[in-house]
Amino acid sequence: MSEHHPSDANPSSRLRPRAVYSSARWAQRRSPTDLLPPKRGTADRARLVVASNRLPVTITRGPEGQLEAGPAAGGLITALEPVMRERGGVWLGWPGAVGECGLEVGRAMQASDPARPYSLKPIDLSAEDRDLYYLGFANDVLWPLLHGLVDRCGGGSTYLDRYRVVNRRFARAIAEVSNERDFIWVHDYHLLLVGRELRKLGLRNRVGFFLHTPFPAPDLMRDMPWSPEILEGLAAFDLLGFQSPRDQENYQAARGEEVAPARVFPISIDFDEFHPSVTQPSVPIEADRIRSIVGPRTLILGVDRLDYTKGLPEKLRGFRSALREHPELRGRVVLEQLVIPSRSELASYRAVKDEVENLVADINREWARDGWLPVRYHYGHWSRCELLARYQAADVALVTPLMDGMNLVAKEYCVANRGGGVLILSETAGAAHELSHSAILVDPTDERAIGDSVLRAVRMPYTERFKRMSGARELLRARDVHHWVDGFLREGLDALRG
Ligand code: ADP
Ligand code: F6P
Repeated sequence: MSEHHPSDANPSSRLRPRAVYSSARWAQRRSPTDLLPPKRGTADRARLVVASNRLPVTITRGPEGQLEAGPAAGGLITALEPVMRERGGVWLGWPGAVGECGLEVGRAMQASDPARPYSLKPIDLSAEDRDLYYLGFANDVLWPLLHGLVDRCGGGSTYLDRYRVVNRRFARAIAEVSNERDFIWVHDYHLLLVGRELRKLGLRNRVGFFLHTPFPAPDLMRDMPWSPEILEGLAAFDLLGFQSPRDQENYQAARGEEVAPARVFPISIDFDEFHPSVTQPSVPIEADRIRSIVGPRTLILGVDRLDYTKGLPEKLRGFRSALREHPELRGRVVLEQLVIPSRSELASYRAVKDEVENLVADINREWARDGWLPVRYHYGHWSRCELLARYQAADVALVTPLMDGMNLVAKEYCVANRGGGVLILSETAGAAHELSHSAILVDPTDERAIGDSVLRAVRMPYTERFKRMSGARELLRARDVHHWVDGFLREGLDALRG
């Protein structure tokens, strides 16, 4: 599928010499009314042009070779999809299959939702691009580094070369689809050099960047031989958004001479999509069915992408510690854990799967009895209805990533639960900044502490649980994903003008 605009007839006519804007120059060339891309149905002043590695639609080949479109999973998609539905615009990204970007892909994406109120612009990745840019530099180097897990960083000089090439390709595609007044918003660690490439192409649009992951301690970043290039690349954006004060401070401490304004905008969810009062009638029916299976036992829920940053083995060892140390929990608690397949081409991800499955088997072997299975493990995907039903039904959510930019599962549970649930949350998840008064915070590396937190959650009186959850829900109602996007587009850009 391709995007055409009258002014794109000759994109090169819009190219100007590279210009780096200071806040003052920014202020001169913008009037306040120019600043916000429209919500749908308002005058077409400027559009939102979003670029992320992944599109909300994933294309695969079916058994008969036909193209099939399905939803992509992950926090970035959960957050951005409702924003694009509300505002319209163009979303550029990779549909997840290699070498599949022709008209057929456009048609398959279109057919998956003919009424989609925004355009999708697929970016093609070859098998080599996937291996070197996506699996290589993005996920074998940047991902572990950004999460502070440097021992897991792989390497290879070809990784970085290909990362530059693909970032340039994204920049060219953005230049092709955008008009002069559009606001360009680039997302996440796959595309750190896109701002620089856009400036090289001479684009003068406002260009923002949001990092969905954490930003690591400055010494970890500076130790990388390529960090000057990455930091300089970030400085080419007009505004950088981070998930939490920790990430913003780390960036500010690591940055080189060239800087871009950095602000904190905690990402969130579409409150109305998750609140029990607005979900389909099938959701509470499914929730009741789940409750009837669990009976009087306490249902503890875990929902995590299969990723070593999510602390899955540590969580399972923490649950085992709960059973070992606190006899009153035996036979009384069930951990239902969904593990969502992710990046399985990487050996480090496959190794986590093996470790998790061995631990589940060990725990169930050690403790199961009389019709009680302590861990109910699922590897795969739940439908939205199945997920919401679990959020509604679960007494406790156990969310213990070793390090996480935000963790939307934590926020989704607070909004979607029927009222008296308890959130146990890792103190190193970005969400802990906002939910510290509502959740039981734990050190995700401390098995004993995780086990004790389970006991605390089970024993917590209803009034306290209700008070904590109400507080979380009110906060998340006020600070939902639309607040996040408004904050980035308005407050952030206003600050630049000031
Ligand atoms: P991450 O972005 O690292 O995966 P988050 O917790 O921030 O972690 O986000 C995970 C997101 O994936 C949540 O919004 C969750 O609802 C969503 N999700 C979970 N299961 C599915 C599924 N089967 N399909 C699509 N999205 C899913
Ligand atoms: O920020 C990390 C992130 O982009 C998430 O938003 C998303 O859930 C996840 O990674 C998806 O990973 P991938 O696109 O590699 O499947």
